[in-house]
Amino acid sequence: MSISSVGVVGAGQMGNGIAHVMALAGYDVMLNDISQDSLDKAMGVITRNLDRQVSSEKISAEEKVAAIGRIKTTLDLPELGQTDLVIEAATENETVKNKIFEALLPHLKPETILTSNTSSISITRLASRTDRPEKFMGFHFMNPVPVMKLVELIRGIATDEATYKECLSVVENLGKTAASAEDFPAFIVNRILMPMINEAVYTLYEGVGSVKSIDESMKLGAAHPMGPLELADFIGLDTCLAIMNVLHDGLADTKYRPCPLLTKYVEAGWLGRKTKRGFYDYR
Ligand code: CAA
Repeated sequence: MSISSVGVVGAGQMGNGIAHVMALAGYDVMLNDISQDSLDKAMGVITRNLDRQVSSEKISAEEKVAAIGRIKTTLDLPELGQTDLVIEAATENETVKNKIFEALLPHLKPETILTSNTSSISITRLASRTDRPEKFMGFHFMNPVPVMKLVELIRGIATDEATYKECLSVVENLGKTAASAEDFPAFIVNRILMPMINEAVYTLYEGVGSVKSIDESMKLGAAHPMGPLELADFIGLDTCLAIMNVLHDGLADTKYRPCPLLTKYVEAGWLGRKTKRGFYDYR
């Protein structure tokens, strides 16, 4: 089977980035969300991000127009059933993801590969709730999707080799590099990145440094493109907390205990850039 069409569930920051890179690589994309407003916003973001790539001569104006022409938006999830590859990129919440798969499964072609962009949830467990665990895997992009070169490919216990190879060839067609990860909590990137971010929050919580000094230390002292607190705001503090909880529950080790300050910010609704307040104030 050769993949030519891709369904993307969820038009948020990951979903719209995935639709962007897939369309630019020549795939027909069907982008789904539950509100027209989210779909309209996503098309606005995709257009602006493609414009940035045209301005910096990474792509031509013709390639931009062609990419936009390959993206169809829909509020009707079953419409994605005819695509060859589905990437679920909804909220990092297992119940929400299971409900999406349940609603989609009756409409899926038998050969369609079903994947999740989950950043931490067990692929084996998500797959077990579907009718195709052998055709199910983790397809994890990094944010911002059009810029970051890596995709983690995570095989569940039942994922077959053909499915892995199809997904690998899609990653290569995107011009990205795949890292193959085993299905353990938070896989590779977030297993390493999130404890660092959590430790930065502890460093703030314990008064070792200010937000500015922590971020500057890691930017200037360790050559990170963003400080850990700035990066947490960029990713979303709710996502960071959800991933720490998956690590803590899944590996049963207190070294993954989420910092109480991270929990408090999430409880306050200070989720970072998306709510205009996190460790920084964006209002
Ligand atoms: N779409 C297209 N292009 C984009 C873009 C987007 N969304 N965002 C940035 N760019 C482009 C810019 O146009 C610019 O291009 P040129 O160099 O050609 O001019 C380039 O990327 C750099 O952007 P900026 O000049 O605006 O800003 P910057 O140099 O500060 O870089 C950044 C921004 C790329 C986000 C950089 O700060 C960075 O790499 N940060 C770290 C991001 C990171 O760690 N991501 C992983 C998060 S973890 C994750 O995603 C996994 C998870 O599950 C939570």
